[in-house]
This record gives sequence, C-alpha cells and structure tokens, in this order.
Amino acid sequence: MSKPQLINTVAKMQAQSDTWRGEGLRIGLVPTMGFLHEGHLSLVDYSLSAADRTIVSIFVNPLQFGPKEDFAIYPRDIERDIKLLAQRGVDAVFKPQTVEFYPPDFSTTVEVTHLADGLCGAMRPGHFRGVTTVVSKLFTATKPHLAIFGQKDYQQAAVIRRLVRDLNLDLHIEVAPTMREADGLAMSSRNVNLTEDERRRVPALYQALAMAKRYIECGERDTQRIIGEMRSQIEKELGGDIEYISIVHPDTLEDLSEIAGPVVIALAVRLANVRLIDNISAEPSRK
Ligand code: PAJ
Repeated sequence: MSKPQLINTVAKMQAQSDTWRGEGLRIGLVPTMGFLHEGHLSLVDYSLSAADRTIVSIFVNPLQFGPKEDFAIYPRDIERDIKLLAQRGVDAVFKPQTVEFYPPDFSTTVEVTHLADGLCGAMRPGHFRGVTTVVSKLFTATKPHLAIFGQKDYQQAAVIRRLVRDLNLDLHIEVAPTMREADGLAMSSRNVNLTEDERRRVPALYQALAMAKRYIECGERDTQRIIGEMRSQIEKELGGDIEYISIVHPDTLEDLSEIAGPVVIALAVRLANVRLIDNISAEPSRK
C-alpha cells in the first residue's frame, strides 16, 4: 500500500499529468467532493482497471451550492479519504485550494443549457453551472483520457457528457452504476447528516423507485398514475418535502406523459438537514 501523491496546485497537477502523458500512460480521473464511500470507490476501482494512472480530486466546490444550501455542513474528512484511496492504490489525490481555483476576480463560467434546466436544475438555480465550471477546471488541471461519474447523479452525468461533446473536449466519459446500502438507500456523503429516525425511513425512496420500475415492466404506460402512487407511498413512509418525482426520457431528460421505451424515474426529497436524490432506469418488457 503506497500513499497517493497529494497535489495542491494546478501547475503541479498539470506537470504530473504531462509527465504521465509523455510516458504514454492513460490517465483516469474521478472527481469527488470527498467524504468517500463505496459509491465513490466503485468509480475509483473502474478507473484503476481502465487506466494506467488514477487521479481522485477532492474539492467541496462552493460554486455549486446555493446560498441557503448545505456547504457549511457538508461532511469532510481528508485524512480518512486519503487512507481509503491509499488502500485502493490510487496514484494521486488532487485537492485544489479555493483561493487558486476561484481568485477574487474569477469571472468565467461554463454553462450547459436545456439539459440542466429541469429536475435538480429547476430546484437549484446555478447548481449545474457550478458543476460544469468546476469539472471543466478539473479536466484542464488533470488532463485525463477518461473521467468517471456515477449514475446516482443521472442529470449531472448527462450534463457532463453534453459539455464534453459540445466543447469537443478530448476525453471519454464513463458512467458507473449506483451503489446502495443493503436496504436500498443510495450511498451518499450526505447520509451522515440524516437523523436516526430519518435513516430508518429513507429506504422508502428506493422502494418507490423499485415499485415504479415494476409497474412499467408490467405494462403500465401512464406516468402520472405511477408518479401518484410513488408520491403517496413516500408521503406515508417518509414524509419530507418532495421536490420532484419525474419520469423522463433518458437522453433529453424531458418529462414523458406516456411510456413507450426506456425511461429514467428520478426524484428529490428534502428532509430537515439533507436533500436526497435517487433514480432508476426502467423499460417496458417486450411481449
Ligand atoms: P460527489 O457527490 O462527491 O460525487 C462524486 C461522484 O461519485 C459523482 O460522479 C457521483 O455521481 C458519484 N456517486 C455518488 N454517490 C454514488 C453512489 N451511491 N454510487 C455510485 N456513484 C456515486 O458529484 C459530485 O461530487 C460533484 O458534483 C462533482 C462532480 C465532484 C463536482 O464538484
């Protein structure tokens, strides 16, 4: 087990990536905000198997949090993160400093329109602009051949794919499946901010998604009927403030009224201190 290099500046990160590229090595990047769990580590494992060098970035990006959101209480534990990444055999941890990434006169942002407007984008104005801006900076700092994102943040992955395509960025994006706890709860750094009682009840989200998937596989076509069932189940089992439950086209992310092919069912719920999102893919079975 060798410790990953800890790199704090853009110049050092770029120099290291240039060296690796000069040696003909393929670089994989896993962007994260830290407080790592098995979901993050599954992306790391993917990179370790698909690339010659793996960089994990850890940066709680202030630009993607709204003024009333949880930036201040977002969990952080860099020592533990580095230990986990050392056990996996990661080559470098890139931990940019906020003052370098966002100097006081920072004035350039990157924005994907349309795809970023619905679902979480509608509830969190400016969020995806913050994500696409920081991810662009992480790409230019680390110069990866491959970057891996999780399906857990389905819209984020779609927005980043579009960013890469539209700006002709010379790298490949891979999207890896959602890792879940035994009771179905999607792993998330934010889960530590759940109360004990909330933690007991939140599997209701996955259960509602799984129920919707079964309905679709059994031939239900009416999205409003499915969403209605999900809403009443979540209200009964969990409570909280349901921000959205949507059944969307997997590529355009547009709301569907009728199901005729593959879909993504996505939801967001706000509890006292935590906002949770989850999604599942579904497709009517061919008869
Ligand atoms: P963060 O929430 O730390 O997630 C980092 C990556 O891990 C994302 O690609 C996310 O989709 C993935 N991930 C999170 N939970 C997962 C799970 N249960 N299973 C599989 N993958 C999971 O997403 C961000 O950070 C930020 O927006 C970032 C892209 C780093 C930009 O700041």
